[in-house]
Amino acid sequence: MKTKDFWKNKTVLVTAGPTKEYIDPVRFITNESSGKTGYAIAEYLNQLGADVCVVSGPITIKNDFPVDKVIHVTTALEMYKACKKLLPHIDVVIFAAAVADYRPKEESKEKIKKTGDEIEITLIKNPDIALEFGKVKRENQLSIGFALETTNIFEYGTEKLIKKNFDFIVINSPNLAGEGFGGDTNRVSILTSNLEITHFDKKSKKMVAEDIIEFTAKNLLKLND
Ligand code: CTP
Repeated sequence: MKTKDFWKNKTVLVTAGPTKEYIDPVRFITNESSGKTGYAIAEYLNQLGADVCVVSGPITIKNDFPVDKVIHVTTALEMYKACKKLLPHIDVVIFAAAVADYRPKEESKEKIKKTGDEIEITLIKNPDIALEFGKVKRENQLSIGFALETTNIFEYGTEKLIKKNFDFIVINSPNLAGEGFGGDTNRVSILTSNLEITHFDKKSKKMVAEDIIEFTAKNLLKLND
């Protein structure tokens, strides 16, 4: 089988973008994720004939992915609920979203007024979508995670791969301006569950997405030979 044919008719879920965790109606905690990599992966898989659904946090990037295949969410809890419904039915999941690890314990219904010199906001842990899926993943399902690591790539990557029961983990190791979050290029390494690491050159996010998809297919076809 050709590596591109591997994706034909596969049901794939891609999480993409950041999440927003509201403090009050006009203030929130979020991160720099643009969604570019997640959407580039989804677009490429769609071209290859996969049945792709994106669960997307709030993004502003232009993209060519079919709108009717996107479920828009705002918070980590919403992303968790949307994924929970879809995950039992997928062949492959790619966790490209930068989900906020914590959310404010209380969301004020009204705008918080400026009063004292200090304010305290208590944050509580959000569900870890990838970790929860790792506990119930079936043998015929595949999960790919992402990690942003600047040091000890292999060590931290291995920890996350095992903890979340990923088959592959894509490690972003940005060390130049314009790479990683927000930028148009990225430099990634992919660690497989048999702890082989492959490093890729700095490329556009579109090409990084193609590398990830092709690497996955090649690797699995090799394993099934
Ligand atoms: N992830 C997820 N749900 C979360 C947090 C993370 O699905 N609540 C997924 C991400 O999409 C990514 C992977 O888990 O594919 C690793 O995310 P990362 O934020 O790097 O890992 P954490 O476990 O949050 O570790 P830390 O932030 O401490 O490095």
